[in-house]
Amino acid sequence: MENPLSVNIGGLLLQNPVMTASGTFGFGREFEPLVDLNRLGAVIVKGLSRHPSPGNPPPRIVETPCGLLNAIGLENIGIDAFIGDKLPFLNQYSSAVVVNVYGERPEAYADVADRCEGVDGIDALEVNISCPNVKAGGVSFGMDPEAAAEVVCAVREKTTKPLIVKLSPNVTDIICIAEAVVTAGADAVSLINTLTGMAIDIHSRRPKLGNVTGGLSGPAIKPVALRMVWEAARAVDVPVIGIGGISTAEDALEFIIAGASAVQIGTATFTNPGVTMEVIDGIQSFLNQEGIGHITELIGTLST
Ligand SMILES: Cc1cc2nc3c(=O)[nH]c(=O)nc-3n(C[C@H](O)[C@H](O)[C@H](O)COP(=O)(O)O)c2cc1C
Repeated sequence: MENPLSVNIGGLLLQNPVMTASGTFGFGREFEPLVDLNRLGAVIVKGLSRHPSPGNPPPRIVETPCGLLNAIGLENIGIDAFIGDKLPFLNQYSSAVVVNVYGERPEAYADVADRCEGVDGIDALEVNISCPNVKAGGVSFGMDPEAAAEVVCAVREKTTKPLIVKLSPNVTDIICIAEAVVTAGADAVSLINTLTGMAIDIHSRRPKLGNVTGGLSGPAIKPVALRMVWEAARAVDVPVIGIGGISTAEDALEFIIAGASAVQIGTATFTNPGVTMEVIDGIQSFLNQEGIGHITELIGTLST
């Protein structure tokens, strides 16, 4: 019998639609005692560049009502160290592995993709053109359709793996960016990355984050994310992955009904490390209760 939760995200076959969001699950090892790493749809690892990067000065995290502001600035160990030291651990498990890619220029993104090509344990790439916390690259590509397409073309030339492009909510028109990256060769789009925000210490009259501004995530952003996923899913004919404030199965189901073929869970993992397992179980229970034989029958069924 076919697995009722299986989904195909632009050639990336997942046993269920629940993935970990980049930057919130490290490289999986810390979660081993808390999460069954054989049960996730996919682990999306921390954003990786061609060479290691130190990230932003501290403080880098501030809590806000119903959310989190972070300005990590894509601190990472670089793609070589990931492939050599971290990937073998993840490949012991049956969850798919997706590498989140970051570069300061289109060629730098392409270099990371090139390094991943031929590495069997990497199942797909997610290109991050939406990080608000770096001076070069990141959201500067994600806010302009032409710049976004340039990055995607450069990566597409170097990879045969399924290519997911992660979009920024810090734009006026998500549809034109989504259309541009699909035309440039994206197999799927994921959204949203964090919303740019800030917080101030009134006594020192200084920003609470070392980087001054940061990216807002968590339940506070869910309604914005849901609206953007709904808009993008109607506009493009590739699978859409919903991200933003998901902390329960009901949240995930809202995104799926809005048109997402899969979801990612980030900030909720910090307060409830096993949240992904609860969401997988909750989606399955909902299908049973509603008499729905396969998850794909639910995707994009919103009636307005
Ligand atoms: C601490 C932290 C680090 C993050 N690092 C990355 C990253 O390296 N690459 C990326 O594409 N997104 C990164 N994100 C964004 C998340 O993957 C996700 O898009 C965002 O947090 C919204 O989902 P959530 O509300 O479920 O957390 C990071 C988010 C947080 C909170």
